This record gives sequence, C-alpha cells and structure tokens, in this order.
Amino acid sequence: MAVARFFRLFPLLLSSSFVVLSPLASSASDSEALLRLKESLISAGALDSWVPGSNPCNGSQGTWEGLRCSNGVVTGLRLEGMGLSGYIDVEALVEIQGLRVFSVANNSFTDVIPEINRLGSLKVLFLSMNQFSGVIPSEYFDNMGSLKKVWLSNNKFTGNIPVSLSRLSRLTDLHLENNQFGGQIPAFDNPTLKYINVSNNQLEGEIPSSLSKFNADSFAGNPGLCGEQVGVECSKADQPTPNDTSKTIVAALITLGAVLFIAVIFFAFRWRKKKQQNDLKELKTGNSNDAVEVPVSVITDKKEESVKSACSTRKDSNPRRLSTVTELVMVNDEKGVIGLPDLLKSAAEVLGNGSLGSSYKVKMTNGVALVVKRMRQMNALGNDAFDAEVRKLGNLRHPNVLPPLAYHYRKEEKLFVYEYFSKGSLFYQLHGDGGKSGGELDWPTRVKIVRGIAEGLDYLHKEFPLRDVPHGNLKSSNVLLGPDNHPFLSDYGFHPLVNIDGLQALCAYKTPEAVQQKTVSPKSDVYCLGIIILEILTGEIPCQCLNDSKGGTDIVQWVASAFSEGRQAELLDTGMEGCRNSVGSMEKLLRVGALCTETSPEKRLDIKETIRMIEEIQVEGSVE
Ligand SMILES: *[C@@H]1O[C@H](CO)[C@@H](O)[C@H](O)[C@H]1NC(C)=O
Ligand SMILES: *[C@@H]1O[C@H](CO)[C@@H](O)[C@H](O)[C@H]1NC(C)=O
Ligand SMILES: *[C@@H]1O[C@H](CO)[C@@H](O)[C@H](O)[C@H]1NC(C)=O
Repeated sequence: MAVARFFRLFPLLLSSSFVVLSPLASSASDSEALLRLKESLISAGALDSWVPGSNPCNGSQGTWEGLRCSNGVVTGLRLEGMGLSGYIDVEALVEIQGLRVFSVANNSFTDVIPEINRLGSLKVLFLSMNQFSGVIPSEYFDNMGSLKKVWLSNNKFTGNIPVSLSRLSRLTDLHLENNQFGGQIPAFDNPTLKYINVSNNQLEGEIPSSLSKFNADSFAGNPGLCGEQVGVECSKADQPTPNDTSKTIVAALITLGAVLFIAVIFFAFRWRKKKQQNDLKELKTGNSNDAVEVPVSVITDKKEESVKSACSTRKDSNPRRLSTVTELVMVNDEKGVIGLPDLLKSAAEVLGNGSLGSSYKVKMTNGVALVVKRMRQMNALGNDAFDAEVRKLGNLRHPNVLPPLAYHYRKEEKLFVYEYFSKGSLFYQLHGDGGKSGGELDWPTRVKIVRGIAEGLDYLHKEFPLRDVPHGNLKSSNVLLGPDNHPFLSDYGFHPLVNIDGLQALCAYKTPEAVQQKTVSPKSDVYCLGIIILEILTGEIPCQCLNDSKGGTDIVQWVASAFSEGRQAELLDTGMEGCRNSVGSMEKLLRVGALCTETSPEKRLDIKETIRMIEEIQVEGSVE
C-alpha cells in the first residue's frame, strides 16, 4: 500500500561551498581568481597581502604572499603552514592558466580530496599534512599527465591507492605515508620514479616487483605487506590477482567540513510508521489516490535572490552568488527545468524502498510526473566531486540509458530526480504485486528488453572503461519500461558515490567474486545481466538481488541443474506460451543467461560476447 508522503522544507542556512555552478568565466585575470580563492578560505589572515587593486606578481617576484611568478604570470601557489581551512575554490584555480605548482601543505583542510585534478597542467601537488579524508577515486590522476611530485602524506585518506598514480609517466616523487590507504600497492612502473613512500598505512599483499629498487624505509608500518624489502615471505594468498584494482571496496565516511558545508535546505519526507513490507510490495508501482498536497514554506537569506531563480537556472554569470541558497541542481534539462519549490509543492507518494533508499512519485502541478529517489549512504564524495560524478551520469545519451535529471545534495542524504514511467520497472512487470505472474510480456517483447538492457550496459562499459564496475547495480527493479516496453537502465554509476557500508547493497557486490574474493569487475555487471536474463525467461524472482535474503529462487543453481538434466524447457515462464514454436530460441537465450552467470569471472562471457549471442537469437512473431 503506498503511503502519502509529506515534503517539508526547513530553514536554510548559508553555505558558501555549495556547488559551483557555471562554466568558466573565461576573462577573469589571475588576481580576480586569486581573490575568489581567498574568499573560499578560512583563517586567511596570512593572505592579507592579497588585496584588490594590487598586482600579484612583479615580473618574476610574487608580491602577494605565497605566490611564485614568472614574467608577471602566476605559476605557483605555495600556501604552506598558514593555518588555512575551508574550501578550495578549484573553479577559481582553473582560471590561473600558468599554474604549475599547487601546495596547501601543513594546513587544516578537511573533507575529501578537492577536484584539483581539473588542473591538468599541474606539475607539483602538495596536500600533505592536512586532515583530508575519504577515498580518492581510482582514476583521479588520469587527467594529470604532467605531474612530477605528488605529496598526499600525513592525511586521513582511505581506500586503495589510486591506480591512476601508476600511470603518470613523469612522476618522480610520491609521498603517501601516514594515511590509511588499504589494499594492495598498484604495480608502479613509472619510468621516472625516484622516490616513493607508502609507510604507515594499512597496505597488504605483495610489494610489486617493479618497486624492488626501494628499500624498507619506503614500506615500513604496513603489517599486511610482504616481500623481500620488509622481510616477510609472501604466501600464495598474497599474490596479486588480476582484479586488484577493483578492490576499491573501501570507501570512507566523510566528515564534511562542518560549518561551511552545513547545509542549505532541509528536505525531509515524513512518513507514518508502517510495518515492514516484503520486497515485492515495496517495489510495486504505487497507484494509490491518497497523495496529499503539502504546504511549503521557504525561508531564505533575504539578502539573496529568491530560491526560485536559484533553482531554475544554472546560467548565472557569478557562480558564487548562487551558492548561498540551496537548490536542485539540474544535470540534464532535456525534460525541462525543475524548480525545488515546484517539487516541494507537489503531491508525492511512495513507490518503494530499494537497497539504497526510497523512491517517490511526484506529480508536479503542471501535470508532469517525476520520480524522486532519496539516497542514504552516499557520502563517499564531497560536494564538488559528487557534482562532477552526477553530471557525468546526466550527460550520458543512449536510447536504453536513463540519465538523472537533477540532484539535491545534503550531507545526510541525496535526492535524484528521474523521469517517471507509468509501467514501472521490469521487476514489477514480471512479478507484479506479489505473486501475480507477468503474463503481459510476450516472448518477442522479452527478447527486445534483454537486447536493450545489454546494449545500454555495453554503452556504459564504453563510457566508463576505467571503472571497476561501470553499472554496479543492474537488476530488474532498476530497469524501467517506457512506452512500448522500451527498457531503460537507471541507478547506474553509483559505485563511486556510495559509502563502504552501502556497497553491499549494490547488485555487483552480491556476485560470487565479490562475496568470495571481495573484488568486482565489469564482468560483475555481466553476471547481473545474466540474472535478469534467467529471471525474464523463467518468471522466477531471483534471490540474488533481493534486498534481504528471504524469499526468491537461487535461479543460477536452478537453471544449471535443469540444463544438466536436460529439462530446461520446463523452466520457461508460462507467460510466453503464445510462442511455442520459439522454444528453441528461448532455450538458447537461457543458455546465454547461464554463461553470463558462471561463478568464475574468467569463464563468464564478457559484454561483447553476450551481445553477439543475444543478437543471434531468432524471434519468430507471436504465433498461436
Ligand atoms: C618591481 O620590482 C622592481 C625591481 O625589483 C622594483 O624596482 C619595482 O619597484 C617593483 N614594482 C612594484 C610595483 O613593486
Ligand atoms: C607547519 O606550520 C606551522 C605554522 O602553522 C609551523 O610552525 C610548522 O613548523 C610547520 N611544520 C612543518 C613540518 O613545516
Ligand atoms: C617514509 O616515511 C616514514 C614516515 O614518515 C619515514 O620514517 C621514512 O623515513 C620515510 N622513508 C623514506 C625512504 O624517506
């Protein structure tokens, strides 16, 4: 039973750090950009020499504190030991085009690593001796091919050492000591590497042979490491596996720099306490009529522009002005621009509680229906990095991929807004509201859906080739059916956003390799696709991707044993009975599903092979 929900808006607080909204203001001079950077910093007493109207550089002399200049151009910022904290306005830094050296070593910065990786020409990066925390995305350094010196030491970074560091062809000095990095050391074989220090972390496994020229001083204080340098012999289990890099199962809870980040809008859905319902009922598409109109009050800082205008545009020329009110950040406006006030005024009803959060259907006053997903456990990234990630998702364009339209960021939870489809999910169409078999999908439709899903997945794999697992949460409840049962993938690409505690909820983390070896890979997505294929052909609810382990069939096992006994035809869903003469093709597709769900990722099909095999499936029309 869907329950009416209330949206309620609480007073806003200022946040000077809320998402930077506009593309580069290209004409700003170095000094303007530096002044904006100063504005974003706290305890900037050390920067008293940074004043408007004066010149930051006199020839090759920095006249402002901490500046390095060359021919009147700012080339370096050495803001070390200045007691700085706050937010590093990367948007401003990007405008300082000559910048090659950036250091904020020995200050009091907190939060996840800023998006310094947008500065693609940087040669020297010192973030050491701060309180930076959280996981650094594995591909973080991929756009920074000029980097020579990277100091991240003496912070609180967690997760794996980003493997992109090992791809920096000019890297000479790497300081990672005194953090909480875990997992194995990537196989650094950067030709120019002269110094590396990974001491005092929580690294484990064998020290890569490429680092054999470095001695114990580079590796001390990691009890889990083995190798000649540390005098510990490696056992078989320490041998690196091909999927090492995907061991980024380590994410981190982030303590977002409190006051600066304190947010903005409090967007709460209140609900009546209700009995826990089973997965089926929760995933059902609600169509109850008890949606309720909700009164809204919006309190903003009166000095600022209205919430309405902040919500409805991102094209303001001054990004910092917008940052003071919270909003719904549009990442895809192909379906029009949505304002938070409009959303708040609208009637909402619950659609279901998924593994990462709850979904609501919101009927806007203009008649448009949207889905709002309210996600918890998504604190792996700070605001800026989160923004960048979600924008990537919003920019995707494929006929079978449903990009998010907008998001709303608060430390405690995130909201995602999607287009609404009245048919709901594939799960709902197959299994209905508890028990009802989905006779509405005939065989040709099911094949079409499988093809669409596979093609959408292939596209994601091409768009995110460096990710451990490009979709990460593929299951029938995350496949939405549009008009004419056209399938759309949703809830993809969340893997970098989710906290370590939340990763288990993702489908890719329920695959055999995740459960047994704690690794995921693009083939984990293929496994999840295989589950959907088996599910769509048998009409059974797979236990593999349910939120809790109660109920559901171990569909992989069931299909495997049916094949071994030659009775696979018995498994086919009666909903496809109209196409009896296609049983051979159905069995072929069932075989594809079985090959996609091989326990060992090596034996499993990859996405290309899967698509090829699916394309070979003949679809004779529906013949009685
Ligand atoms: C710039 O430096 C030159 C030589 O060091 C000095 O004579 C001049 O006064 C400086 N100009 C300013 C504006 O500080
Ligand atoms: C760090 O900065 C402080 C001033 O804030 C300074 O006294 C101290 O010597 C610096 N430490 C290092 C190791 O540079
Ligand atoms: C690496 O860092 C540790 C801890 O700061 C230090 O004791 C050690 O001497 C460093 N190793 C090298 C090779 O400099």
